[in-house]
Amino acid sequence: MDWHWKTIIEPFKIKSIEPLGFATHKERKKHLEEAGYNLFKIPADKVLIDLLTDSGTAAMSAEQWGALMRGDESYAGARSFYTFESVIKNITGYSEVIPVHQGRAAERILFSFLCKKGDIVPANSHFDTTRANIEVTGAEARDLPVADAWKFHEPIAFKGNMDVAALEKLLHKEKEKIPLVILTITNNSLGGQPVSMENIKAVSQLCKQYSVPLFFDAARFAENAYFIKLGEKEYTSKMPFDIAREMFSCADGCLMSAKKDALVNIGGFLAMNNTTWAKKAREIEIIGEGFPTYGGLAGRDLEAIAQGLKEVLDEEYLKYRIQSVSYLGYGIKKCGVPIVEPPGGHAVYVDAKAFLSHIPPEGFPAQALACALYLEAGIRTTEVGSLMFGKRDPKSGNFTPAKMELLRLAVPRRVYTQSHIDFVIEVFEHIAKSKNSIRGLKIIEAPPVLSHFMAKLAPV
Ligand code: F0G
Repeated sequence: MDWHWKTIIEPFKIKSIEPLGFATHKERKKHLEEAGYNLFKIPADKVLIDLLTDSGTAAMSAEQWGALMRGDESYAGARSFYTFESVIKNITGYSEVIPVHQGRAAERILFSFLCKKGDIVPANSHFDTTRANIEVTGAEARDLPVADAWKFHEPIAFKGNMDVAALEKLLHKEKEKIPLVILTITNNSLGGQPVSMENIKAVSQLCKQYSVPLFFDAARFAENAYFIKLGEKEYTSKMPFDIAREMFSCADGCLMSAKKDALVNIGGFLAMNNTTWAKKAREIEIIGEGFPTYGGLAGRDLEAIAQGLKEVLDEEYLKYRIQSVSYLGYGIKKCGVPIVEPPGGHAVYVDAKAFLSHIPPEGFPAQALACALYLEAGIRTTEVGSLMFGKRDPKSGNFTPAKMELLRLAVPRRVYTQSHIDFVIEVFEHIAKSKNSIRGLKIIEAPPVLSHFMAKLAPV
């Protein structure tokens, strides 16, 4: 489309609406206390702008709602499965497609037969559920991001890349212990940053050389494809579909949480070319997820995913998506808030360590900022720092902080308009002026695994 205007408009109009959760400052204070300063425990209707996650929060299109009615709810061999399978085969090129109820089910199934104690699974960075599903098998989830990934304030392209030299060293030394290599596209744990095609190809070649399979954690593959179009010269005139197809051709399979780039509220899949592994995966799937033609989903869900996967590769959509997240990122940066640059595809990450330098890591600065945003204006965000990744030894009480203290502002797909985003920027402008009054937090109670979901905290 020959769009020569500088305003980037939402490439859709709104047919169905939901009210926002307005509450008073006093009410929010009470909700925060009752939730133990853990925003996962706040009822969603007490949230005004919900940037907790971009997962399962997309607004579906009229075509997707229409597709729901086409859902074939047969237990086995439903027509909807074949529609789903054919769309995924077309985008990925993989011959085996296994639906699951969400991304972590794909992780659990695959790692349960591929990984064992003593194994190492390298990735550019593992998402927390991926790490947990690897670690329950006794294997180690090892992150090998490029050094640039840690230069939060430098707008370097493709900071989601994997450190190829480090991977080669590891493969050379420990190949026998490595059942697979994972590339998370885009890299959610370190700023939602994309992986370049050049890096995908280099990692793929190394994996082939050492005969180790490569899988994508493909939750945000379409956003990654669009970043490749923007950032790598040979791809500027290519369609996102063709770029995605080329990306997938470099790997042996993928794990997908459809709750992100399939523009739906639930679902996922495993896809691969290895028929022996697919057979094993289906055997495990039947025990916990369901028959392999529905995998814990309704026929209507399969239809909505198939339709969403077609829509997400639309260039107008991707252009709006990436630019609107960037608008939010640079909007809050202008207010003096340090962010991970460039902004990610699905989220803006605030560097809370730099912003709230008066709060030490053991005071959870990113969580403290998350609580301040909720208290001030009902904005809900997620901590990606020591609450999520810090290590607490229950015996000695010793605490090892995470390497970063980030606050993620994840933008649900097709849900909020520019005025909502302008409002978030205004709230940051206000908070930046009074940031020294924000106090740190301490943990009162926390389970050992994925503790950030359930932890109870209190102000220091
Ligand atoms: N992989 C990545 C990169 C993810 O971001 C997620 C989920 C998963 C796997 C797991 O998928 O939730 O469908 O089981 N990320 C969400 C988030 C929860 O908020 O970033 P799931």
